[in-house]
Amino acid sequence: MNAKNSLILLKLGGGLLTDKNEPFSKRIDVIKSVVKQIIDANEKIILIHGGGSFGHPLAKKYNVFDGIDKSIPNQIFGVVETHHSMIRFNSYLIEQFLETNYPVLSIQTSSIFIKKSNKISLESLDILETALNLKITPVLYGDVLFDKKGSFSILSGDEIILKLCESLKSYNISKVVFAMESDGLYKSDDLGGNNCNLLTECYSSELDDLILADLGQKIDVTGGIKNKLTNIKKICKLNIPVQLINGLTEGNIFKSLRNQKIDCTNILINE
Ligand code: IPE
Repeated sequence: MNAKNSLILLKLGGGLLTDKNEPFSKRIDVIKSVVKQIIDANEKIILIHGGGSFGHPLAKKYNVFDGIDKSIPNQIFGVVETHHSMIRFNSYLIEQFLETNYPVLSIQTSSIFIKKSNKISLESLDILETALNLKITPVLYGDVLFDKKGSFSILSGDEIILKLCESLKSYNISKVVFAMESDGLYKSDDLGGNNCNLLTECYSSELDDLILADLGQKIDVTGGIKNKLTNIKKICKLNIPVQLINGLTEGNIFKSLRNQKIDCTNILINE
């Protein structure tokens, strides 16, 4: 392994790219800015994006997250509709890159991940690594996850990232970046009042003891910030630092990919 094989995993939150309160609504200006920053940074990355208003409302309507439920009318149709909605959103993003001749490749999450004996399995690592070797940026997204037992659920972008961190062996993941709609994690003040401060830096071992401010959440079938923190802790256990950044602040994604200083939350690895 050498420095050339260094790789960043970047998750673009669905809440950043879409308006989660309005089904099938893209934040076009945000998407265009984010895409431009990724192209300008031109680093070796795997891009993963969330579902936002293209994923969560449908997944919730048909209870796709919890698997087969015969009491839900048209649930199987809902599974494929959720998947197709993600494809539509993903295609839009892919087109933004291709318009600038930037080589990205959409990789269908539901075709390379499957659940086996309650464990998420990544079946086609070779495809990802070969694309990266060809200087193509793979783009994955939260999607339907089939279960070998004959059911299904949803695989979130955050879970995809964790699995990639565990599986990619010929690449050295230098960091995982979550681009969201806030500057990072906020600590509640000690008195439990309404004040909260941005947590700029902490060791992963300190995460459990923090009292984080609840800044309100929109509908999220994959568990919101609580699940994100569980995944972050697992990523850090693999010795990969995590950065939570505000994707709405112009230039943050470029700076993060270029390792320039920004106001954000850095979760560091314990020595
Ligand atoms: C959810 O993915 C995908 C679907 C609901 C189909 P994520 O959980 O990664 O999406 P966001 O980032 O929270 O929107």
